[in-house]
Amino acid sequence: MSNSRVRAAASSEVLEGKLLRVEVGGRRVLLTRVNGKVHAVLDRCPHMGMSLAKGKLEGTTVTCPWHNSRFDICSGRNLDWASALLGMPMPKWTHGAIAMGKSPAPLTVLAAEESGGDIFLPA
Ligand code: FES
Repeated sequence: MSNSRVRAAASSEVLEGKLLRVEVGGRRVLLTRVNGKVHAVLDRCPHMGMSLAKGKLEGTTVTCPWHNSRFDICSGRNLDWASALLGMPMPKWTHGAIAMGKSPAPLTVLAAEESGGDIFLPA
């Protein structure tokens, strides 16, 4: 194993349709598997830095449980921004206030590698 990557989990722990939260090198990371391939993102919503670990994952879309921003977990792309309070949908005119001046931003994607029954991330 090279020094430039760290083990994040066992392959068997990373399942289709599920989020697995791990701590790797002081970073909170979410892992999932889509069509057999492992994807990893920092567990930090770009809206207010909250955890997405309890968010809903549907297909490749993860919804932040705090204000319903939605992201593609493979690309990190932002799909919807700050439209709810604690998961309760709010009228569109309130969305600017919920966003609290923050502009839509993507999740930070990490390059996950799977080999020998383990998942590795860049160190
Ligand atoms: S912290 Fe995720 S949408 Fe606000």
